[in-house]
Amino acid sequence: MANDHVAIDGTTSAGKTTVSQRLAMVTGHLYLDTGAMYRSVAYLALKNGVDLDNESGLVTMLAHHKIVIVPDSGAAAGYRVLLDGHGTGDRLFDPDVAAAVSTVAALPAIRHELVERQRRIAAEGPVVMAGRDIGTVVLPDARHKFFLTASIDERARRRQAEFQERGIDIPFDEVRAQIAERDRLDSTRAASPLRAAPDAITIDSTELEADEVVAQMRAVMAAAAT
Ligand code: DC
Repeated sequence: MANDHVAIDGTTSAGKTTVSQRLAMVTGHLYLDTGAMYRSVAYLALKNGVDLDNESGLVTMLAHHKIVIVPDSGAAAGYRVLLDGHGTGDRLFDPDVAAAVSTVAALPAIRHELVERQRRIAAEGPVVMAGRDIGTVVLPDARHKFFLTASIDERARRRQAEFQERGIDIPFDEVRAQIAERDRLDSTRAASPLRAAPDAITIDSTELEADEVVAQMRAVMAAAAT
């Protein structure tokens, strides 16, 4: 077996984070949510006042900041992000970061840098890596590849509930429109657009609980091992 990596790609708010975190917990793999890296770049750009389309400025900025993702089962996302040693709490999930992240994620030089970092982490040992381009670009040889989707209404409902839990009230239609726009930007960008790898197994989670998705993945993984 070349590697034991699990690539989990999919649309925004399809449940990748929860599912990847739980799967990694049962398999003992390291869990890495690559979205946190793109969110970190968007957050740093906003904080430092670097224009979101200033590609070389953002790459220079990135070279001056250390992004560390620490697994933490006590945190809602299953990890904590330390930027230059400082915790970011929920800040990376705030609406202004969410609105900015697709723009920075479309920049080839940013993707190149972050993909390098992701591959270095995978070189250390088996990972469950969640993102948009893991099965297609980052780890094309991953042993297991999944593509997670759900209906846009269900994804908007989940995202709105997440915001509400944090005391942020956003009307359903607005959340739904933001998700539709993220889908559009993620899937139409020139650099590594969101798409399922040809050898990925697609799971529609609209009617499934996270544990049911994890169970389906484990069944696929177990069948592949026999
Ligand atoms: O998974 P997420 O919602 O935290 O991702 C945030 C943004 O980063 C989203 O616009 C897609 C982008 N992203 C990406 O382009 N490639 C990845 N591997 C992970 C995330």
